[in-house]
Amino acid sequence: MNVYLKCIEANCQKVLPSNTKSYVCPQCGGLLDVLYDFQLGDPEEIKRVFQQRRLSNDPLDLSGVWRYRELIPFCPDPTKVVSMQEGNTPIYEAPRCADYSGLKRLYLKHQGLNPTGSFKDNGMTAGVTQALLMSSKIVACASTGNTSASMAAYAARANLKAVIFIPDQQIAFGKLSQSLDYGGLTLQIQGDFDEAMKMVKEITEETDVYLLNSINPFRLEGQKTIIVEMLAQRGWQVPDRVVVPGGNLGNSSSFGKAIKELYDLGFIHKMPMVTIIQAARANPLYRTLIYQSPRLIPVEAHTLATAIKIGNPVSWKKAVRAMDWTRGWCDVVSEQEIADAKAIIGRDGIGCEPASATTVAGIKKLVQTKEIDRDEDVVAVLTGNLLKDPDYTINYHQDSLFEMASYKNELIERKDKIQSTYSNAPIKVEPKKSQILKLLGL
Ligand code: F0G
Repeated sequence: MNVYLKCIEANCQKVLPSNTKSYVCPQCGGLLDVLYDFQLGDPEEIKRVFQQRRLSNDPLDLSGVWRYRELIPFCPDPTKVVSMQEGNTPIYEAPRCADYSGLKRLYLKHQGLNPTGSFKDNGMTAGVTQALLMSSKIVACASTGNTSASMAAYAARANLKAVIFIPDQQIAFGKLSQSLDYGGLTLQIQGDFDEAMKMVKEITEETDVYLLNSINPFRLEGQKTIIVEMLAQRGWQVPDRVVVPGGNLGNSSSFGKAIKELYDLGFIHKMPMVTIIQAARANPLYRTLIYQSPRLIPVEAHTLATAIKIGNPVSWKKAVRAMDWTRGWCDVVSEQEIADAKAIIGRDGIGCEPASATTVAGIKKLVQTKEIDRDEDVVAVLTGNLLKDPDYTINYHQDSLFEMASYKNELIERKDKIQSTYSNAPIKVEPKKSQILKLLGL
């Protein structure tokens, strides 16, 4: 199998060997794709092979990423694969979310049920495997917390050193605790995610340290399988639309590539629209599209959904490409809309971290504006687990969630309080049976 890297810029298209330690095109600075000369044969036969692997106990087949290895065939040596049985995440029907957003039916694919609690594991199994193929000893990333948790875990499994750049005081505690426990060297950069990203890019360009942010195209190969697994779980019934939160825009980029490849290879005969939802004050992609700018319009990002508090997303051109390929679009939702949607996802017994709730909030908005039809078949991808950011959830339910804005790295409390529309606060009660029975109305 011929595997190579190719610059995505139409006027460049430089081709490089797959083992080049370069995350962008050395000629023009463009983003790179991992490409293959696919020779797969009959897609229906391969779908059957994927299905049969569900009965197998082979470690590769047990992974919800490597089960689909024909579609990410960059690793010639299966013994190099670093897997924690990632993927394998459920699709839930979510009736309360459907009702809330005005759809007849809504499905949530919960990537938060991965080994480290986010979709990053789908990408990290691929990225760390490539790090081994490149004989790297140290891996690094900038992160709002989930990439770092995932990288630290997979690096530990592969016996690699993990170096993590996180924005000081701006990541959820659940995520920070993970990277510490998994043994990652954790550097709290006094700045925001975009500054942490700039530092790690410089350091990985100048040293042998291998970069595992989503600018690394091998990570995106792993994340493609979120779409493949979703389609396989639906018996290859293609939904009308896939909705995903937008931060650094790696996930939406990989969804676009997966959909386009599956379509070109004849696995599917229509493309679901990739719909990206950003937080209203962390909206560089949305702004760029609205102003029809040929260059990204970066912003100073503010949102309580810290996972997507990103103002200068590296993969934005691939995300635009994903929307172009699939006739998708991008929209924004407010902090209030995110908080309420998250509570409704919780009420469905599913739950997620704040960034993931942009999806249901965005669907509600787009149904109201008639962009989405009530009958549409929609799958929203929940990206992170409820337990990642318990502070947010508790503050919401105790009616004490405030928008905090960080200006020039100082935290300033703003007065904009989030209304706890769907709060479910704990009740303090004395240990007296009569009082408890009274509370229960019994
Ligand atoms: N949802 C969650 C839970 C995330 O952690 C992230 C990104 C996103 C959505 C956005 O995904 O960047 O592919 O557009 N988190 C990164 C991190 C940036 O460092 O953990 P994206």
